[in-house]
Formats: sequence, C-alpha cells, structure tokens
Amino acid sequence: MSTHSTAAASCSRHLQITPSILNADFANLGAEVARIGSADMVHVDVMDNHFVPNLTFGPTMVEALSRSTDIPLDAHLMIADVDRHALDYVDAGCASVTFHVEAASAPIRLAREIRKAGARASMALKPATPIAPYEDMLAELDMLLIMTVEPGFGGQKFLDLCLPKIRAARAMMDRHGLECWLQVDGGVSLETIERCAQAGADVFVAGSAVYSAADPDAMVTQLRQAAQSAIAEA
Ligand code: DX5
Ligand code: ZN
Repeated sequence: MSTHSTAAASCSRHLQITPSILNADFANLGAEVARIGSADMVHVDVMDNHFVPNLTFGPTMVEALSRSTDIPLDAHLMIADVDRHALDYVDAGCASVTFHVEAASAPIRLAREIRKAGARASMALKPATPIAPYEDMLAELDMLLIMTVEPGFGGQKFLDLCLPKIRAARAMMDRHGLECWLQVDGGVSLETIERCAQAGADVFVAGSAVYSAADPDAMVTQLRQAAQSAIAEA
C-alpha cells in the first residue's frame, strides 16, 4: 500500500508544482493564472496583517478566482484565529486548505472539519516549528507544508536549515505508511528545488521564480523536470 518505503519507490513519487500568485499582478489574477496552465494547483497566499505582517485577500477574492480557472486552488492561510475562518476557503472552492499549526487552537478538530467539508486538509509549520510533536497527527492530514522562509513575503532566500525537517517528515510518513503530500514553500527555484526533492518533498510552491520568468508556464515545466531528475539520481 505505501509506495514510499524504498528509494526505488520514491523515484515514482508524483511531483507537483503549485505556483504562488503572490508575485502576480493582483489587478489581473484571472489572466495571470491563465499563464500557468500546466500547474498542478494554484497556491493562494491569504495574509491578514496579524499572523504575518502583510495583507493580501480574503474568501470573496478566492471564490472569484476559483470561478476563473479549472486548476484546483491550494489555499495557504497565514491568518490568526484560523479555526474560525478556514472553512470559508472550502466554501470558496479551494481543493486544499492549509492552516498554520501556530495559529490553530485545535488543529486535529480543524483538519477533520476541513476534510468533512470536502477539501484536502493541510497543516503548515514555520521554519522554527519542529515536526516531532506532530508525528502522531500526520494521519489526520492530506498534506504537510514545511515553510522554507518565514511566511509573509515572496522573494526571500531559501533557508537550508529547513532541509533536515523535510527529511524527518518524509521518514515519519514512510514509517507510518501515509499517503500525505509534503509541500515546501519559500525561495523554491531552479537553484533550490533539487535539494527539496532529494530531502523528500513532493509538492513545490514557487512564486517569484515562476512569475519573474518570461514564460511562467515554461518555468513550471522546468521546475518539474529539475525535481524529477533530482529524485531519479538519488
Ligand atoms: C510566503 C508565501 C509563499 C511565497 C513564495 O509567505 O507563503 O507562498 O509567495 O514566494 P517565493 O517563491 O518568491 O518565495
Ligand atoms: Zn504560501
């Protein structure tokens, strides 16, 4: 059942590229998403100026975006009091909803509510948040997001210090035979994606790397190929 327990099996991991629209043109989001047609999901960074020192958009905007594309939306909620607001993003049409464990009062209940409402439940860890305390709740999750920058802004430098945590999370998922996806977010580019893939990530957020490229969709393809060749070599 588990397909992740050997090095050979890890080569067949399904890798996904989920571009962040944080660095896209907010006045033309429908058109901006149309520029990344081969993306596996569109990563939507929701920020509230409390949990992080930046402000983006809320469920009304996300709902409008979900009507403008067939690509599934992957909401990353960087908001305080997330237990109260997360289901608004399921209602807005998101296929996956990620809450930060640092902002959740009852993460297990919240993950169950998100799943029950019909979306994939995902939990994020900031760079300084350890994975070990959460090993026993990974079975409640469809995806774990390990941040590789401090959340709040696009265009920051990738933090290599997060790589051991990615390896530890992959080992835990393998040990328990979980199908949980492992996403990385922050500073992911052609220069850093290989180390993330080798450490065990299988879902890659890339914001500025995609939207600063002349051809964003070609960059999605290049990132996917770089990740695939990194695990094929491992
Ligand atoms: C940061 C966001 C990221 C960000 C990624 O808080 O969660 O999704 O947009 O942007 P880059 O790829 O430029 O680091
Ligand atoms: Zn994000």
